[in-house]
Amino acid sequence: TDIPVICIDGPSASGKGTLAAALARRLGYHVLDSGALYRLVGLAAARAGVPTDAAALQDEAVQARLGELARTLPARFDGGRVWLGQEDVTTELRSEEAGAAASRVSAVPAVRAGLLALQRAFRRLPGLVADGRDMGTVIFPDAALKVFLTASARARAERRHEQLRARNEHASIESLLAELEARDARDRARSVAPLAAAEDALLLDNTHQTIEESVEAVLGWWAQRR
Ligand code: C5P
Repeated sequence: TDIPVICIDGPSASGKGTLAAALARRLGYHVLDSGALYRLVGLAAARAGVPTDAAALQDEAVQARLGELARTLPARFDGGRVWLGQEDVTTELRSEEAGAAASRVSAVPAVRAGLLALQRAFRRLPGLVADGRDMGTVIFPDAALKVFLTASARARAERRHEQLRARNEHASIESLLAELEARDARDRARSVAPLAAAEDALLLDNTHQTIEESVEAVLGWWAQRR
């Protein structure tokens, strides 16, 4: 289609969501937080009593049920709140537990297939900024601009620590670092849609950048592409 898409892919806590939201605001575009959809599938599974531990995920019947939950996900985003059906799950969705469950269910091919149409439906005029792991490789391969955002693991752990502290949750930087590295390794190693930069992605390392600097860098690329 002619509807422009900017993809921001990269590892956990690299600042994709913040960057995508800021870009969308500057450009007046829609935004897709695809990680939130995987988190919602994890929550929907918990609500429905479908187990998502490693052993359960080997079971074909469990995989099929998760795929069905993804395909019929009653997700709603409005004014910064996220709803699963009638339930406001905004806060719960950001927990480390929801992130870990998302990472587990996201390795199930039926879940990824089940979320495909929903993700592409976010592509509406005047344009979309999509953040995740496979926006540029799988969901929007024809995107006009693909950015692969990285930052050192320590910088990412420190940012996550800061976010949690702001919400009065406490976790040591060392434990967050270990968790981030485990999640990255799982996201990179899975056989379906592994975390990887698209061939035509531009790399942006924001370890030593402010959000404003990252936004300006991407807007500069965007101006050249248009
Ligand atoms: O980005 P966020 O931390 O919300 O993503 C949670 C998990 O969802 C990631 O660790 C990853 O396993 C999965 N995910 C994915 N593909 C995406 C977005 C997220 O597999 N496009």
